[in-house]
Amino acid sequence: MSTLDGDDGLSRVIRYVEDEVPFEPGYYNQAYLGRRIAARMQRRDAEDHSEYLGILRRDDDERGKLLDALTINVTGFFRDPDMWADLRPVLRELSADRRRVDAWSAPCADGREPYSLVMLATDDPEVNERRLSVTASDISEEALAAARAGVYETTRTTDIGEQLGPLSAYEPYVEEDGNVFRVRDPVKERVTFETRDLIDDGPRSNVDLLFCRNLLIYIDTAFKEGLFETLQASLREGGYLVVGKTETVPPGCRDSFEPVAKRSRIYRYTG
Ligand SMILES: C[S@@+](CC[C@H](N)C(=O)[O-])C[C@H]1O[C@@H](n2cnc3c(N)ncnc32)[C@H](O)[C@@H]1O
Repeated sequence: MSTLDGDDGLSRVIRYVEDEVPFEPGYYNQAYLGRRIAARMQRRDAEDHSEYLGILRRDDDERGKLLDALTINVTGFFRDPDMWADLRPVLRELSADRRRVDAWSAPCADGREPYSLVMLATDDPEVNERRLSVTASDISEEALAAARAGVYETTRTTDIGEQLGPLSAYEPYVEEDGNVFRVRDPVKERVTFETRDLIDDGPRSNVDLLFCRNLLIYIDTAFKEGLFETLQASLREGGYLVVGKTETVPPGCRDSFEPVAKRSRIYRYTG
């Protein structure tokens, strides 16, 4: 890649995305956008940004692939198992103290996060799972369609059976057919999926347990506090927030959150 192409070429691709792809690059940090675009360029053997821009202009399929790459939806059942272990006492306490526990997985990607929550609550004998109600949202319609279908496959790089390891047994919750795992209806019925943009759409209210994992890392600093204000406004006082393992509460919001399990990024909202 020529030096001249560098940042300027990247900016041109980003401007093109802004105009032609249903995605708002302004929310996300430049390093993240650069990495995702570079990955697509490599897949298409594009020598530099100009060549890649040409491919984008003439190839609808590449525009779709770039959109997929940008709305990165990597996820898994029980992603970061330590967090799920630390969540058990929180779930036990919430389901003992409250008649209804309103949980929200935002963003939920292909649904494995909210389904993990339902399965864990059902699997743990000390959690009253009948009190749990789960809302799951994402900006991506495609991710939500996959989430509603609830069908996952073991591939060369993803072992679904292994992901379900934190459960005492997974058969009550998923039907296994070779490499294909279908989430059973009683688990699916506990989750309500909806489309929501966490930056543009307003807050929910009175949420007891809010997961916002692995989105903040991609968001530009200028939008982070706004997004956090939405999360804060959605939580009831005393509710819990879980962020991703490499994410933190922005400095301006720290006074309102006390760590419950620091390594797992579980916080209690003190209001
Ligand atoms: C890496 S996944 C995280 C999924 C899950 N929380 C986890 O940690 O495994 C990030 C998700 O954020 C969604 N997303 C990106 N921008 C968003 C926005 N502005 N509002 C809501 N969801 C967004 C993407 O579609 C993607 O599904």
